[in-house]
Amino acid sequence: MKFGPSIEVPPCAHGFVTALAPMANVTNPPFRSLARDFGCGLTVSEMVASQHLVKGGVAGLNALRMERAPGGGAHVVQLLGGDPALMAEAARMAEAEGADALDVNMGCPIRRIRHGHDAGVALMGAPERAAAVIDAMVRAVKIPVSAKLRAGTSEANVNAVDVARAVEQAGASLLTVHARTADAGHEGEASLAVIAAVKRAVSVPVIGNGGVKSVEDAVTMARETGCDGVMIGRGALGNPWLFRALATGERQDVTLRDRRDAVLGYARWYCAFVGEGAASRELRKHLRWFYAGTPVEEPLRERLGALDSMAAIERALDELSE
Ligand SMILES: Cc1cc2nc3c(=O)[nH]c(=O)nc-3n(C[C@H](O)[C@H](O)[C@H](O)COP(=O)(O)O)c2cc1C
Repeated sequence: MKFGPSIEVPPCAHGFVTALAPMANVTNPPFRSLARDFGCGLTVSEMVASQHLVKGGVAGLNALRMERAPGGGAHVVQLLGGDPALMAEAARMAEAEGADALDVNMGCPIRRIRHGHDAGVALMGAPERAAAVIDAMVRAVKIPVSAKLRAGTSEANVNAVDVARAVEQAGASLLTVHARTADAGHEGEASLAVIAAVKRAVSVPVIGNGGVKSVEDAVTMARETGCDGVMIGRGALGNPWLFRALATGERQDVTLRDRRDAVLGYARWYCAFVGEGAASRELRKHLRWFYAGTPVEEPLRERLGALDSMAAIERALDELSE
């Protein structure tokens, strides 16, 4: 799959591209590296708010979010904002920091963002402004720009096709469709029909997103919609083996030892980024995800509060993996 003229994303064993969904406070550079290591084709940074970036520069949380993931692969930075001039300036800054491509968040339903900043999914309610944002960014940078849409704002306004056409016309090189409405949040089934309709309506590549938790879900989404790629969010939490299963076409039998090795690999990268104290606190949620549904889920949960250093985490995982 081509993302603009410069980026080629190889397909998985089933013929479509796989992507890791941007997830704020989760898909930091080490997490993106982990997914890539397991065969994920495309990763996207957590959202970076344009107004903070332009006002505060590349510093603090934004700097971490905008770092390239260690290892290979295209570095796509997602920007959040509804003001074309600010988004163009943020795009220039991200390009200067080394981004290979940019994505625009048109799906975030959080009240403060949607109504306070007229950003995120507010752009689905304002297709002309969505197009103006893309147009301003495409003119400001040389790297390709994509947009991540929702199905619409509500069941009464499922307008992904209209927005897709408008942003393609404005110069977007790739579209992702999270096929739930803003009102649905992250619950309920994603609409394969909406993804299929967007795919038919535009000529740029389309990535489908929403509710994919297994190889079967991903294959069904690609087959029923004709989409070029499948993006996985919560289904990838604690489960990078889903990307490996898709990349290789082979079933993955995951042992407790495999889980230990993968989560500790991530933990070591993450420590190098944010320091041991912050990393070990942050790791607790990943530990819960990595061991969910296993026999050690409960014993691990009981010990989580005491895991305040890498050594303690490593010791606990060694004991529990036996
Ligand atoms: C914790 C969390 C954080 C998210 N942060 C972002 C974000 O920064 N940018 C974005 O476009 N979508 C964000 N999303 C939405 C996901 O990218 C994705 O569209 C959504 O989770 C649906 O996919 P899934 O059903 O596979 O999880 C977030 C979702 C979750 C659960």
